[in-house]
Amino acid sequence: MPKIKVKLESKIDSSYEISIEKGITAKIPAYLNKSKLGKKYAIITDSKVKGLYADAFARFLRKNDIDCEVFSFQHGEKSKTLETVEKLAEEMLNKNFDRNDAIIALGGGVTGDIAGFLASIYMRAIPYIQIPTTVLAMVDSSVGGKTAVDLKQGKNLIGTFTQPKAVFVDISYLKTLSPKQIKNGLAEVIKYGVIKDKELFNFIEQNIEQILKLDEKALNKIIAQSLKIKAEIVEEDEKEKGQRMILNYGHTYGHAIEKLTNYKLLHGYAISIGMILANKMATEKGLLKSEDAERIKKLIKNAGLPVVTMKKPSMNDLNSDKKRDGDYINFILATEIGKVTIKQIKCK
Ligand code: GLY
Repeated sequence: MPKIKVKLESKIDSSYEISIEKGITAKIPAYLNKSKLGKKYAIITDSKVKGLYADAFARFLRKNDIDCEVFSFQHGEKSKTLETVEKLAEEMLNKNFDRNDAIIALGGGVTGDIAGFLASIYMRAIPYIQIPTTVLAMVDSSVGGKTAVDLKQGKNLIGTFTQPKAVFVDISYLKTLSPKQIKNGLAEVIKYGVIKDKELFNFIEQNIEQILKLDEKALNKIIAQSLKIKAEIVEEDEKEKGQRMILNYGHTYGHAIEKLTNYKLLHGYAISIGMILANKMATEKGLLKSEDAERIKKLIKNAGLPVVTMKKPSMNDLNSDKKRDGDYINFILATEIGKVTIKQIKCK
């Protein structure tokens, strides 16, 4: 039998820039005109952000001679399904979007995940950019190329690693964000402090009131520092074969809690409880001092986030998590503030 080799050595450079600047949205037409990512742009957004920002953004792009259409879906985690993606793809097809076009994700984490996933499969992939409008999306989900939808068995079970072409972080969007959503994102910032940056943790501890009041200087600092950490981790391990797993601190329990509460509890709230449960495991194993666990708990509490759950997820509830490796689950356990370790724990 003859053998034919399909040589596919990869030489792709997927590097991109994260621009963090209040009001940077005004500079996006210049970027699009220069980068020529698409002939026209599908602005993917949810039902809340559509009226708040997306329709106005589309008018602004058109004023700058950029062809675009807004496509929206019902706000909320419940929309993160293959059905939503299919519906959006059909709407884009009806408006003649093709391989020469591109996607703009304008919204929070759910929007970024849906829009990124759609971009990664629409006509076998078109480029996309991220314009996050929530703290959570700004500090975490808009960067790193994780795109996904949920299945009834659990969160983010269908998805791709597809990096955006650019990320624009404009804190002006936060003025319409509810305090609940601010705290939702803050949970991820606390996570960065615990996993990698004691100084960031100390800063949040000392400035929690200003941060919750949306003090610009404090916000800029925690957003930029979180993104610096995220970028470093993603550069080292884009496809989560090792180091990137540490970003999942609090998420193993957190995702199970989200599912158990039928996604009524927001992601940041669920991972806050997840961090507490992971710390409990770490102290029981003698990995983390109880003083450090208490300090983390106090900060989570002071940030207005929950530290207890009505029902602790069982090992069985954790089973559908992607962090499972055969009969083992990779738990990210803190060993001190600013350091974590990955521990495989038998789940069956
Ligand atoms: N949100 C975790 C990650 O991007 O890896």
